[in-house]
Amino acid sequence: MNSFNIARVPEFFFGEGMLKELPGLNKLFGRNILIVTGGKSLKKSGYYKQIIESLKDFNVYVVNVDSEPSPVIIDTFVLNNLNNNIDVVCAIGGGSALDTGKAVSAMLKEEKFRTVKDYLEGVGSREPSGNKIPFIAVPTTSGTGSEATKNAVISEIGPAGFKKSLRHDNYIPNAAVIDPQLTVKCPATITAASGLDALSQLLESYISTKANAFTDSLAVKAIPGMLNSLNEVCSREPENIEKRGSVAYSSFISGITLANAGLCTVHGLAGVIGGYKNIPHGTICGLLLPYWLEETVAALLSDCGKYRKYLDKLSAIVNVTGFNFKNNEDIERIQNFVMQVKQLAEDLDLPKLNTFGVTEGDLNSFAKEGSNKNNPVKLTAKQKLKILKKAF
Ligand SMILES: [Fe+2]
Repeated sequence: MNSFNIARVPEFFFGEGMLKELPGLNKLFGRNILIVTGGKSLKKSGYYKQIIESLKDFNVYVVNVDSEPSPVIIDTFVLNNLNNNIDVVCAIGGGSALDTGKAVSAMLKEEKFRTVKDYLEGVGSREPSGNKIPFIAVPTTSGTGSEATKNAVISEIGPAGFKKSLRHDNYIPNAAVIDPQLTVKCPATITAASGLDALSQLLESYISTKANAFTDSLAVKAIPGMLNSLNEVCSREPENIEKRGSVAYSSFISGITLANAGLCTVHGLAGVIGGYKNIPHGTICGLLLPYWLEETVAALLSDCGKYRKYLDKLSAIVNVTGFNFKNNEDIERIQNFVMQVKQLAEDLDLPKLNTFGVTEGDLNSFAKEGSNKNNPVKLTAKQKLKILKKAF
């Protein structure tokens, strides 16, 4: 077995009703809470009111974020709260709220703070110190897995735009409360895009060249969990708490696996596209996922001897005991799995890239710039273009 290292996993409370743990958790850190929230669907669900009431013994400051976080948003929230003696930052919302909270909790403690841009990977020249205000993550969508990761994704949109991470091992949340009740009122379009993002994160980290025994053991159970429940909660059974729980759990696990095994070409391309156009991250990943999987699996099957390790792993998801490349049934089962992912993405019917103003001409530069980091086969620019055209 290969050597590996696993970063800390936040203390977490999982399951229906676990929201009740939030006041006690905040109390561990102090009285002054900064709540970061997206707000809209949370307010509609009635849980926002319940949360604020449960925190009546604290001094609560609230900021709202209604878009994916940019440096301007982070810097403004930090400057406005520098003198509030914040003891704990508590983010309650989707991936954007969680990433915003994570970045604000870090930047409030960065002594030489100028702008978060200075500390972003590939953008700034400063190394984050890792100091932060304690941070609690409470996801209300099931997608980015930010409640388990050590990075916050910050973007600036435009021709010279970027989508980059603020990253440090210490940025893993101190605690996470994952209560599937909070996701029940999440609109189907957001549930679909977020869920496909998480499924992509699970599959990418599972066949990543940096995958390890620990992340594999988590992903192999979480992948079917997402695959078997996502369509139901987006269509017939949005209030099925058992299935919402399965989706929320798989999403949380995707955060652990991506933080410890890395991601592949879907996120390599999503980073470039998301910096260029204002498209929800989950939508980009959900659109690319089935075609990336199709292209990557075809490449793996083209040299079964060389890629045996990865085919064995894909076999494990579809209950085949080891992959036998002389057995057509094993090959068919893997191909059926690819079809299942394609069918799910088709059923969820996310709006294509062109509906967000991406032009066919943009695809070439995305294909050239999108990273293949950790992908078990290096996809050529031509192969990446093929994926992008299908998502266009
Ligand atoms: Fe993602």
